[in-house]
Amino acid sequence: AHPWRGVIEEYRDRLPVGPDTPVISLGEGGTPLVSSGWLSETTGCDVWLKVEGSNPTGSFKDRGMTAAISVAVAEGAEAVVCASTGNTSASMAAYAARAGLRPLVLVPQGKIAAGKMAQAVMYGSHVIQVRGGFDECLDIARGLADAYPVALVNSVNPVRLQGQKTGAFEIVDRLGDAPDLHVMPVGNAGNISAYWLGYAEYADEGLATRRPRMWGFQAEGAAPIVRGEVVPHPETVATAIRIGNPASWHLAVAARDESGGRIGAVSDEQILAAQRELARRDGVFVEPASAAGVAGLLAAHAAGDLDPGQRISVVVTGNGLKDVDTALSGIGSIVEQVVDADVRKAAEVAGLA
Ligand code: F0G
Repeated sequence: AHPWRGVIEEYRDRLPVGPDTPVISLGEGGTPLVSSGWLSETTGCDVWLKVEGSNPTGSFKDRGMTAAISVAVAEGAEAVVCASTGNTSASMAAYAARAGLRPLVLVPQGKIAAGKMAQAVMYGSHVIQVRGGFDECLDIARGLADAYPVALVNSVNPVRLQGQKTGAFEIVDRLGDAPDLHVMPVGNAGNISAYWLGYAEYADEGLATRRPRMWGFQAEGAAPIVRGEVVPHPETVATAIRIGNPASWHLAVAARDESGGRIGAVSDEQILAAQRELARRDGVFVEPASAAGVAGLLAAHAAGDLDPGQRISVVVTGNGLKDVDTALSGIGSIVEQVVDADVRKAAEVAGLA
């Protein structure tokens, strides 16, 4: 046992880094894998939550970013760019700050959560708001990287997926084998592709006896893979996955088909209900997009599509604190009871007296 060293040092021989690659790390990875009493009881399965909101910038993006920024530095980059629905930009800005690179961020105007915007700004990013959605932002980021000396670190950069596959390694290392079923949200489709890489690598090398079936869930209003066509104007309360033309579309379909899995859609109502219940019942507060996998698992169970007795991992991708406005919008007024500083008054209001 040793203190956690970040995903590059923990899985160095499985990542595209050499002895001379500088390691730009914030100690990412090593996130909690917690049993969900609520989901296990509800489904009759053994359900585990991979809590990626515990990463240094509050999302799974840090796994890919430590790798992408380290490689960018090794290749002599001075500036980095990404398109983002918020979390990629927060992560890139933090790792760029640490590496002394200039971070440039393109986000859809008015469509990223305040916490994520605050992160990008505080880490010193130049944030450009684009009149358009994520898909247009990604086109611009690619265009900038093609024409100017700035390195693209979206998940179209294969090093990102290499870093993110470490999430699958950690689940297998902890459970002793791969689960039967692996569930997660899908937006730009990089993460499901990365997990499949990780599970396949461990199985190929005999470090796991099986590969899980991969289940991904998009938001109903932003479900191009489910519909089989680009969604020109995606809409969902889960802004992190408000994407109509995912860059890793084909890799995600391959992960689904090779694993005998599925990619489905869940409504905004299902997402927000899952987010609320996960916080209340399991003590895990995630952002709306992160609850899409939980919502999908519950919907499959309700439809009779989930056999009991399976071991299931569910990745919850980002921290609930990133978007408190959306979280609280469904709760109603929160500070409705104001009392004088008095024990008896508090007891009365609390229904104790
Ligand atoms: N969950 C969260 C919290 C995300 O931020 C994202 C993607 C996803 C799930 C979906 O992962 O894109 O690999 O399928 N966020 C990107 C961003 C698009 O810019 O932060 P994916």
